[in-house]
Amino acid sequence: MDDLIAELAGVLGEANVLVSEQDQAPFITDWLGKYRGAARAVVRPGSTADVAAVMRICARHKAPVVPQGGNTSMSGGATPDASGQAIILSLTRLNSIRNIDAVGNTITVDAGVVLAKVQQAAGAAGRFFPLSLGAEGSCTIGGNLAANAGGVAVLRYGTMRELTLGLEVVLADGRVWDGLTALRKDNTGYALRDLFIGSEGTLGVITGAVLKLFARPHARASAFVAVRDAAAALALLATVRDRCGDRLTAFEFMTGECLALILRHIGDARLPLAATPPAAVLIELSDQDDEPELRERLEAALAEGIEAGLVLDAAIAQDGTQAKAFWRIREGVSEALVREGKAAKHDVSMPVSAMAEFVAVADAAVRRVAPGVRPIVFGHLGDGNLHYNLLPAEGQDPAAFAAIAPELTRIVHDEIGRRRGSISAEHGIGQLRVDEMPLRKAPLELELMHQLKHLLDPAGLLNPGKLMPAATKN
Ligand code: FAD
Ligand code: MLT
Ligand code: ZN
Repeated sequence: MDDLIAELAGVLGEANVLVSEQDQAPFITDWLGKYRGAARAVVRPGSTADVAAVMRICARHKAPVVPQGGNTSMSGGATPDASGQAIILSLTRLNSIRNIDAVGNTITVDAGVVLAKVQQAAGAAGRFFPLSLGAEGSCTIGGNLAANAGGVAVLRYGTMRELTLGLEVVLADGRVWDGLTALRKDNTGYALRDLFIGSEGTLGVITGAVLKLFARPHARASAFVAVRDAAAALALLATVRDRCGDRLTAFEFMTGECLALILRHIGDARLPLAATPPAAVLIELSDQDDEPELRERLEAALAEGIEAGLVLDAAIAQDGTQAKAFWRIREGVSEALVREGKAAKHDVSMPVSAMAEFVAVADAAVRRVAPGVRPIVFGHLGDGNLHYNLLPAEGQDPAAFAAIAPELTRIVHDEIGRRRGSISAEHGIGQLRVDEMPLRKAPLELELMHQLKHLLDPAGLLNPGKLMPAATKN
């Protein structure tokens, strides 16, 4: 056992320092199966003090550290490179809910708590924690913070940055920043908290957080609505917003090709419409109102949509079970894509009004280079966030598609650039997009980011190869 491993085992106990390939297997590949790395060890600290000790030891040994939560990153952010030098620091043992303040509407948690557990704990206290995404059964609050997760309720509640009041962070040298305030207003200096949120493990290891809680909605109304295309969906979004205001909680768009893929791969997905439409939106309202009143509001908005020729067909959930069945369709998409095979995935955002035109232009542009390519498009329309995925032509050799995929990504991202959009709306940069950063970010932005990175991690040990491209020699 080398000195570093021996020192780590001395602090954490041998059972929490995994060195065999077998023990490391679940930690060294990403959820999509796109990246496979290697680790000198996987360590599982059980407290903030343990994390601080690990960081001090790794700093002394100049060992790179890859923080990891639920390992559900879609940009390879939690997977080490293949050098075998890195220590994977798994936060999963830091999984206590430290405090719930139902009067102050806050919950204080360890970073390794799984998102679903925070949702349940909030519900049990008569409150609501709104972050919701397909990986909520395994992603952790620390990963949600480090990736500034979005999900399906951003429309009403914002991303993780808007849901967070305080943070506890262990720095690269082992010092602990206790920023665990529950204050809604605190104007005493730079917004350090917001700097660490979205930093993807490259500026510090998040070990705790104070999150906002909300009133638990008593009523929900959900509809699965067939529309002609993204343009009709956007017009319907405006109608629903006019009629329902901030009762609108989710507005999830899917193309007909996306629906067909889900129905092909997800056995228990049942389409509540007469036929697979050209496109569809899943709409959810929630509020303190009584349910029939809320449903009437949704019905009135849809009637207006039908009147305006926007809505082709619609099913309104009569109970929670039916609403769940609607969501089973939407949440099946990631699984369906993985089962269909390697897609060129794009998680892009742009001004909401530009989305319909973007889809039409991008579809035509990629088809010029790859005639049979299959766009599978879905996403959080109200946030201007589309998941624009490309599958090979039916029967196309995956290797041939992989060879043209970088060109397809360049085309898609160039169209995003023309609309002053972003090449990563919610999944982060990770290792997937790191090489594109010099192409897509202004030199001054990159320079400031490098200076911040150098300030907080001068030895470059935190999550190397992720988010930050190699410093451009100036
Ligand atoms: P990990 O994957 O373990 O790590 C993610 C990043 O954060 C890595 O860079 C890692 O180094 C860093 N990190 C992890 N923990 C810490 C910590 N404590 N301190 C510092 N850095 C840390 N994302 C969305 O935004 N919206 C969605 O709708 C969405 N849907 C998804 C659906 C599915 C089926 C899947 C598989 C993923 C989805 N994701 C989505 C992506 C992913 O779930 C989120 O990015 C999530 O926030 C990652 O959490 P995690 O705990 O798995 O983090
Ligand atoms: C989603 O919205 O389902 C996620 O971001 C996952 C994905 O893009 O596949
Ligand atoms: Zn998403």
